[in-house]
Amino acid sequence: MARIGARSIGDWFSERLPISGEALRELTNEPVPYHLKRWWFALGGTPAYLFVVQIATGILLAVYYQPTPDAAYESVRYITEEASYGWFLRGLHKWGATFMIAAVILHQMRVYFTGAYRKPREINWMVGMCLLLSTLMLGFTGYCLVFEQLSYWGAAVGANIAGSVPLVGDFIRDLMLGGEGYNPRTLPRFYVLHAAVLPALLTLLIAIHIAIIRIQGVTELHFEDEPEDKPKYFNFFPDHLLSELAIGLVLMILLTTLATILPPTMGPKADPLTTPEIIKPEWFFYVVFRWLKLFSGTVAVVSSGFIVFIMFIWPFIDDWIRRKTRFTEASVWIGIFGALTIIALTVWEAVVAH
Ligand code: HEM
Repeated sequence: MARIGARSIGDWFSERLPISGEALRELTNEPVPYHLKRWWFALGGTPAYLFVVQIATGILLAVYYQPTPDAAYESVRYITEEASYGWFLRGLHKWGATFMIAAVILHQMRVYFTGAYRKPREINWMVGMCLLLSTLMLGFTGYCLVFEQLSYWGAAVGANIAGSVPLVGDFIRDLMLGGEGYNPRTLPRFYVLHAAVLPALLTLLIAIHIAIIRIQGVTELHFEDEPEDKPKYFNFFPDHLLSELAIGLVLMILLTTLATILPPTMGPKADPLTTPEIIKPEWFFYVVFRWLKLFSGTVAVVSSGFIVFIMFIWPFIDDWIRRKTRFTEASVWIGIFGALTIIALTVWEAVVAH
């Protein structure tokens, strides 16, 4: 009886959704090159996993969060100090953000140093740049929502920086703040960006990124120290998925431990009349912040924009260097110089008060 029931349910579905087991296997059985057994080469899955953690914890936080200047700080305090496991969810979300940004940067470094952005993958590199910028914007808008002194003044400084972009600066600043300065319309704007627009954009970009990877496959890398008889590929399902699940479990243990040992606390509430002595953004903006302090005003903003533009079109610049000069390894040295500069500026901003 039960068997007949199961078969007729199966028939009911297959009459409406005629998907064969063969087609399903075809869809999931993507052959994955062997080097993706190492985490360094499969780091793209990590931000994807962390994004899911952020969505799940973010939805639960949104149950209590109130995006108005009068109520925001009190609602975050309630989450942190009174709501059941609120401190834990906030901790997972905060550490998850740090891990996600770090994972995106590491994944981009892997792609860069293995030259995996070269033809035919230039478009996916540019999609990746949009992913990087959207992830950083998610971090920035999230930081603004707590409505602590640093959230408020961080947003005010960010808006000032946007305001110094030539020609369109005032427009961007007004769009960001809903007026010339921070006002009651500002916080809801950050909230809509943080909880709706940017997650939707990131979801779309990840879908495009993965679709392109499936069309092109990942870059095949060969290592001299690998034995000849090693298999060249393994199956995405279930082998690679199981590796990703194992990585996910390790990350969950790390996040849980950090959220418990170093839970987020409450800083002083935003006070529009008192500028804090030291204004610092989150660690991932230290490099930009130090750059802005080194070169003031429009020069700093225009040069930052120029650097981002160069990063966007890097595959084409690299291609030009490799065709026109003898420096085929130039990208490696430029990459090492860029990474060291970013680390130096970040550490510099971290250790000095101003
Ligand atoms: C939320 C952010 C991101 C997610 C979820 C993601 C996801 C992935 C995944 C799953 C792969 C397959 C191979 C691997 O795991 O390394 C991949 C490859 C790739 N990603 Fe990303 N990625 C992100 C950000 C970026 C960024 C910031 C860049 C560069 C600007 C980038 C450029 C690429 C390129 C060019 C490939 C192809 C690599 C190859 O062929 O070996 N991605 N990405």
